[in-house]
Amino acid sequence: MFRNISVIGLGKLGYPMAEFLSSSGAKISCYDKDLNLVKELKKNHGEHLHEQGLQNLVNNNNDLVFHNKISDCIIDADIIYITVPTPSKLDGSFSNEVILEVLDEIANVILKNKKSYIININSTVQPGSIESEIIKFLENKGLKNNENFYIIYNPYFVALGSVIRNLQEPDYLLIGSSSIYAAKKISKFYNALYKNPKIRLLKFKEAELTKLLVNTYLTTKISYSNFVKNICNSFDDISDLRVLESVGLDNRIGSKFMLPGGPYSGPCLPRDNLSLKKFCLDHNIQNSMSDEVQKINNDTIENLYKVISKLKNNYNIKSFGFLGLGYKSNTQCFEESYSIKMMNFLKSLKIEVFYYDPYLIEKFDAKKVHSFDELSMQSDIIFLSYIDQQFNPIIQVKRDKNIWDLWHHFNESKYNRIFHKDSDFKNFKVIGDNLDTKIIRFNKRFG
Ligand SMILES: NC(=O)c1ccc[n+]([C@@H]2O[C@H](COP(=O)([O-])OP(=O)(O)OC[C@H]3O[C@@H](n4cnc5c(N)ncnc54)[C@H](O)[C@@H]3O)[C@@H](O)[C@H]2O)c1
Repeated sequence: MFRNISVIGLGKLGYPMAEFLSSSGAKISCYDKDLNLVKELKKNHGEHLHEQGLQNLVNNNNDLVFHNKISDCIIDADIIYITVPTPSKLDGSFSNEVILEVLDEIANVILKNKKSYIININSTVQPGSIESEIIKFLENKGLKNNENFYIIYNPYFVALGSVIRNLQEPDYLLIGSSSIYAAKKISKFYNALYKNPKIRLLKFKEAELTKLLVNTYLTTKISYSNFVKNICNSFDDISDLRVLESVGLDNRIGSKFMLPGGPYSGPCLPRDNLSLKKFCLDHNIQNSMSDEVQKINNDTIENLYKVISKLKNNYNIKSFGFLGLGYKSNTQCFEESYSIKMMNFLKSLKIEVFYYDPYLIEKFDAKKVHSFDELSMQSDIIFLSYIDQQFNPIIQVKRDKNIWDLWHHFNESKYNRIFHKDSDFKNFKVIGDNLDTKIIRFNKRFG
C-alpha cells in the first residue's frame, strides 16, 4: 500500500484525482505550478470544476497538503502521479515538454537524496514516447531505469463532469510498465482501493496505444451515428432517433453514443484522433479511418452552417440563442466546442447571438443571459447544444418557440415548432414574442 502519494498537476483531471486518491487513506501531497489555481483550490476545493461527487471526497477528513515546490511535495512519496498538460503539436502528436520539465526536478531530487521513486504518468502521451522520450530523458540525467526510478503509464478514462464517478467505477485500470516491482505495487494499491478491479497490465506501447484506441473508437462511433443520421434525414419518413436506437439495441454495438446529436468535440476526442493519425503516419501504417472519421465530423459541423445560412437567407432570422455553449454539461471547458464554432459563423452573418450556459465563465462574443426565459424572449430560434439535467427543472419554454433539437430531447407532443433535421425547416417562420403564452415547465424530458 502507498502511505504517501504525490500528485503533480492539479487541473481538470489532477485535482479530482488527488481528492479521489485521498479516499485510500494515504497522505496526498500536491503541487501545481499555477499558484493562483492552488490558492483557489484551497478556498473553493474545486467547486469551479462542477464535478459531481467531488465535495464528498473533499469532506472525507483526509485533507490534501499543498506544497510550493516539487522537491518538497515528493520528499516522502511512495509514488508520484503526474497529471500535467500534454498539448497537441502542429503535427497532431502530443508534446511531453511539461512532463519532462517536472521529471527534471524529480531527477534532481533522486540524485541529491539517493532515493528511488515510482512515477505514474497519467497524462495522455504519444504511443512510444514513454520509452523513447521519458525513460531516455531520465537515463540521460544519469539515472538507472527500474533502479533509481520506475515508470508506470496509467491513464484514466474520464469525461469532464463525471470524473469522480469514472475514477470510482472504472471499467478497468490500464497500466503500462516494464517493472514487475512497480506493477505489483500499483496492483496491490488498486486491489485495496477498488472492489475486484479489472487490471490490465501491458507493455508501455500497448498501454499508450490502448488509451488512444479507446477514444478513437468513440470518435468512430460518433461519426458513424452522424453518418446514419445523414442517411435517415434524407427521407421525410425515417426517424434518425428510432433507427439509431434500434441499431444500438444490438449488444455487439451498444446504445452508448448511438443516438442523434452533434459532432464530437472537447479537449480529448478530437486530438486523440489526430494523434493516432500521426502515429500511423510515423510507422507507415495504412490508415484511411482517422481522416474519414474527422471528415464526417467536419461535415456534420458544415451541415449545421448550411442550415444557419438557410435560416438567414430564406427566413431572415436576426437572433439565435444557444441553450448551452460549451462542449458539454458540467464543465467550464469549451475546447473544440462545436457551438462556439457555430457562434462564430453566426456572427460572420451578422446574426445576434445569445446564450444560456450555467457553467461557462469565459467571456464570448455573444450576449450571456441568465435564464432560459430571457433566452427564449431574445432569440428567433433556440439551439440545444447538449443535454443537461440542470436545465430541466428551471427552464420554461413557450409552446410556439422555434427549437432546433438535434438530440430529440424535447418532448414533441408539448411543442409545436421543434426542428431536428434540415427538411423540418421547410415549415420554419420567425415568430415574434406574442406567441401562445402558455408556459410549459420542463420535467425529465423537457415537458
Ligand atoms: N481532462 C480530461 O478529461 C482528461 C481525460 C483523460 C486524460 N487527460 C489528460 O490528462 C492530462 C492533464 O489534463 P487536464 O485536463 O487535467 O489539464 P489541465 O490543463 O486542466 O491541468 C493541467 C495542470 O497542470 C499544471 N501544470 C502545468 N505545468 C506544470 C508544471 N510544470 N508543474 C506542475 N504543474 C503544472 C497546470 O497549471 C494545470 O493546473 C493531459 O495529458 C490530458 O490529455 C485529461
